[in-house]
Amino acid sequence: MTSTVGAIDIVAWFVYLFSAVMFVVGLHFMNSPKTARKGNMISAFGMIVAVLMAFIVLFAKGFITIVAVVVLVAGILIGAVAGVVSAKKVKMTDMPQLVSVFNTVGGGAAALVALNDILTKAETPDIVVLITAGLGILIGSVTFTGSLIAAGKLQGIKWVKKLALPGKGVWNIVFAVLSIASLVMLCVQPEQRLLWSILTTVFALCYGLVFVIPIGGADMPVVISVLNACTGTAVAMSGLAIDNVALIVAGALVGSAGVTLSILMAQAMNRPLISVLAGGFGGSDAAQAGDGPEGTMKETSPDDLAVQLVYADKVIFVPGFGLAQAQAQRELADLGELLKGHGVEVSYAIHPVAGRMPGHMNVLLAEANVPYEELVDLDEINPQFPSANVALVVGANDVTNPAARRPGTPVSGMPILDVDKAQNVVVMKRGRGTGYAGIQNELYFEDNTQMLFGDAKKSLQAVINAVKELLA
Ligand code: TAP
Repeated sequence: MTSTVGAIDIVAWFVYLFSAVMFVVGLHFMNSPKTARKGNMISAFGMIVAVLMAFIVLFAKGFITIVAVVVLVAGILIGAVAGVVSAKKVKMTDMPQLVSVFNTVGGGAAALVALNDILTKAETPDIVVLITAGLGILIGSVTFTGSLIAAGKLQGIKWVKKLALPGKGVWNIVFAVLSIASLVMLCVQPEQRLLWSILTTVFALCYGLVFVIPIGGADMPVVISVLNACTGTAVAMSGLAIDNVALIVAGALVGSAGVTLSILMAQAMNRPLISVLAGGFGGSDAAQAGDGPEGTMKETSPDDLAVQLVYADKVIFVPGFGLAQAQAQRELADLGELLKGHGVEVSYAIHPVAGRMPGHMNVLLAEANVPYEELVDLDEINPQFPSANVALVVGANDVTNPAARRPGTPVSGMPILDVDKAQNVVVMKRGRGTGYAGIQNELYFEDNTQMLFGDAKKSLQAVINAVKELLA
């Protein structure tokens, strides 16, 4: 029996290492949208191998009864079906909520693994296990509640969006201090580990709530990314506690990728990351919803827009969340092809947080076979707006709002696409509603701006028909 256990441990170690290598290789393939799908499959294969190996180890060591096997198999089946169905069914515009729910599950699982490790050990755990498992419990619990609130806000659940805290900064400090103090006590008094680990869990769950509740508006993407990094770190800590190489590597990869993404996104939003972590940066979703610019919006028609486009030398398309919502990417690409065929220079201005997830517009436009070289980043496209005869904004709002250049608004400091500097601006949107940050867009009231109200897909189809008629 002992030699079987020794042999199975060695085999398991190599299998987990193999899984970890699969995660790294998979991540490498995710560098490019062309190979990302393959990368995802490779990483998923690594994860399936690791889960099967864990199952075999438990069984071979006689750790589980037949009842536990049934529970485990049921858990794997329910988890797999829920994962596949939700990932297949979710709309692309709802993907950030799904990521947030996955963060919730990942953080919660990591905290439970660490809790189980500390509480079921017969002998007193050594200090390394106490620290790593304690951190797994703390970070995993923060991620659990924080991600639940973030998912609710992104889903637009009204009561979640309305949640507010009096003296929000105070609660952050109170629960951060209490969770860390309980973690320290867990290490100092390991004989009282039941009490201290439960207190660490409870205080960290509360910290997750008070951390995310005050954050809203334009800062949510950074928060999701920070919570993603937390999930990875919690998993890596739990992996260290139970000495599982697959968890350590997978967690470290997710954690470091999440930290990198958080920093890049905070830079893209021009927000100091530390302010987001301290909570409450960006104000509530409802912040300043009522303070809008004054004036009237001028309307245009598909026929008028078609004339402007056909007689232009240079046109810049500005896609945003509304393009994804309307699923109008193919129509936009078709309009671009028509205009290019007529000799018009066409490019697509890509804001780093346009849409609802990093790279949203790139993926959407790649789906419609828009050539990569026509997608131009913010820094490169901004100097080109003054020479554009028409900037056509399709379902983008916050990322074009000149209010970002002034202090005191929910989008202040966020870099924007300088659409207002184009010679003519046409905005496609359904009505007079606000964007994600909940404020009115000053661009819509500028002299050089015209609005084409309606669903973007229908409006684009009407413009395509009008352009075809003009060119016939
Ligand atoms: P938003 O500010 O959300 O504006 C989208 C606009 O699309 C709205 O004004 C909406 O107006 C319009 N729209 C919606 N459905 C439409 C349809 N079917 N046809 C035509 N128009 C439609 O989008 P944005 O400019 O892309 O800015 C992104 C915002 O989301 C930023 O504040 C960003 O911080 C936040 N955010 C980004 C991410 C990432 S990582 N990209 C993640 C979470 C949040 P109507 O309702 O009047 O049609």
